[in-house]
Amino acid sequence: MQTGNVKRLLSGIRPSGALHLGHYAGVLRQWLALQGEFDCFFLIADLQALAIAPESAAAIPGFVKEVLVDLLAAGLDPDRCRFVLQSRLPEVTELTAYLQPFVRTGELRSNPSVREEARSLGKGDLGEAPDEVDFSFLGYPVAQAADILLFSPTPPVPGDRLVVPVGRDQVPHVVFARRVAQRFNRGRTPIFVEPEEATTGISSLPGTDGGFKMGKSLHNAILLQEDEQSCARKIRAMFTDPLRLDPGDPGHPDECPCFLIRRAIRPGNGDLELRCAECKRGETDCADCKEELLAEVIAFLAPLRERRAEFERRPDFLRDVLSDGTLKAREVAGLTLAAVRDALNLGYPDLIRETP
Ligand code: TRP
Repeated sequence: MQTGNVKRLLSGIRPSGALHLGHYAGVLRQWLALQGEFDCFFLIADLQALAIAPESAAAIPGFVKEVLVDLLAAGLDPDRCRFVLQSRLPEVTELTAYLQPFVRTGELRSNPSVREEARSLGKGDLGEAPDEVDFSFLGYPVAQAADILLFSPTPPVPGDRLVVPVGRDQVPHVVFARRVAQRFNRGRTPIFVEPEEATTGISSLPGTDGGFKMGKSLHNAILLQEDEQSCARKIRAMFTDPLRLDPGDPGHPDECPCFLIRRAIRPGNGDLELRCAECKRGETDCADCKEELLAEVIAFLAPLRERRAEFERRPDFLRDVLSDGTLKAREVAGLTLAAVRDALNLGYPDLIRETP
């Protein structure tokens, strides 16, 4: 038997603003780690941004550029990874249409990612009262399943893989895409490889305000493009352990934003774990800890800043990266779509020529 050897990676990000350390800890780190091992495609999901927040349409182009530069500055290698502009991959929309009969509306309403998103956007609780959400919002998981399944190796050979590294909040989307793939495959020669989710184990970083999630719109984020002065301003004003009122009190580093951010940018660091033990014994000073965090963040962001400056000097290069990546994605997606059409008896070889 032919053994599978395609190791493909597909992931995506919605262009809704500059990336921050929470993105780094939640998804980027694994993208960086896997880029040498997998055939990687990263989708900049502008169509999804439009589906979810149509009122932000005018801002999307600027965010697309910002995200592309952030990803390159973070160290994704343009020689190894393809960057894809979702709206220029019309195959997504076509596959979305073909997948719709394999989806129940109830599973969209009960999808935990969709419900959480609806709540955070003030769209109400999808599980209960009749809601006023747009069709595009309720349906976006189907489009996201299409994003994923388009990159399934065609024809699938046992052993082929399609890995989708995402933040923990996105896992229900990958589970849903897998379910749709299974339903589609049932009763026929399989068309789709079942996608597998991968996560870093970190769901989100706390914000500099002590809030439990770092988010750009929450104004508590340290951006990947943050300069040194602004890092200093944010970090020195940062909240630390709320339970530590007197300097001699034992600390709770496992819940302290300062420590959690330090751990996230330097995982497995032995010195840090020593400091952690000292903190628990009440032997550290939060102000010192913040200075250490500041030095670590500055050191961490320095190479990103250098690469960013380099890419910003080369607008033609950015255009090439996104154009070439999108073109390559269309090749892969075209093969998948042709197989899907055949499977649905929409091939018509004797009635119509292959569309160019
Ligand atoms: N929903 C993802 C986000 O919020 C972006 C995304 C779009 C995505 N399509 C995808 C992620 C496919 C993984 C796979 O950022």
